[in-house]
Amino acid sequence: MSVETCTLFLDKKPFEFKVEGNFFWGEDKLLFQPEDNVISKVPWSNDGFGVVNAFQDNEFEALKTSIVKNIVKAFDNHNIDYPEDFQLKDYHKVVTTNEQHLQVIDITRNLTNEDFDFDIEMLAERFGKILGYKLTSFVEELGKSHIQIRINRPSSLDINPPHRDGYLSYWEDVVNVWIPIEGCTPQTSLPVLPGSHLLPENEVLRTESKGAKINGNTYYVPCILKTKAGDLKMMRPNPKEGEALLFSPFLIHGAAVNRSDSTRVSIELRFPKMK
Ligand SMILES: [Fe+2]
Repeated sequence: MSVETCTLFLDKKPFEFKVEGNFFWGEDKLLFQPEDNVISKVPWSNDGFGVVNAFQDNEFEALKTSIVKNIVKAFDNHNIDYPEDFQLKDYHKVVTTNEQHLQVIDITRNLTNEDFDFDIEMLAERFGKILGYKLTSFVEELGKSHIQIRINRPSSLDINPPHRDGYLSYWEDVVNVWIPIEGCTPQTSLPVLPGSHLLPENEVLRTESKGAKINGNTYYVPCILKTKAGDLKMMRPNPKEGEALLFSPFLIHGAAVNRSDSTRVSIELRFPKMK
C-alpha cells in the first residue's frame, strides 16, 4: 500500500486529497461495450452522461419527504438529537462528528424500494423510455433493489474517490441515476469526466475493488487516480431540482467535494437493463 495524493480539477479549480492503495495501469482493453449498451441510443452516448426530466407534479416533494424520513429514522436509531423543524441543508449542524455521520450513512447507503413511500419502479420505466430500453430496479446478482442517499457535509471528505461503478460485476449493465435533492449547486454537484467511459484500461491508473482508503474509509469501488492524459479534469453537470443525471457505469465520476456552507443531499439509483 502506498499513500498517494489525488489531484483533480473541478470546473478548473484544483482539489487534492490523500488516498491509500496499490495503483496499477490495466490492459489494452475497453470494458464499455459500444454496441447495445444502455446509453447507445441517446444523442449523448459519446459524452457518457445526460440530464433529463425526472419528475412531474408533486413527485419530487414526495420523494424528498421520504428521504427526510429515512434520515430521521437513522437519527432515532442512533439517539442523535435533532430539532423538530429539521431541514436537510442543516444536517451538519445536527451530525457534528464523523462517528455520528458514519452511523447515519451505514443505514442510508444501503436502502431498497421498500424503504421509500415512492414508486421507484415508475422511474425505471420513465428513464427506460428515454433510453429506448426496458429497465428494472431489481438487481439480480444482489437479489434486491439498491438505493443510496448520499449526504455531503460542507468542506468535508464525505466523498467517494473518482471511480467507475462498472468494475463491480453487478453494475456492468445498468444506467446510473443521480438525483439532486437538497443543496445541489455548481459548488456541490456530482463531478464527471466527460467521455471517460471510452477509455481503455491501459489508460486508467487505479486500485483493485475495496483497495482504496480515504480518511480511514475503505471504498468498494476502485479509486481512479489519473488517466493517460494526466490529472482528472472533471466538470459538474449540475442537474436542477426535478431533473436527473443519467450516466454509463463506465463513466469516471465521484469526488463530489462540497464547496458550499450547506449540506448536500442526493440519491443514487441503478437500473439494470432487462434481458
Ligand atoms: Fe458511483
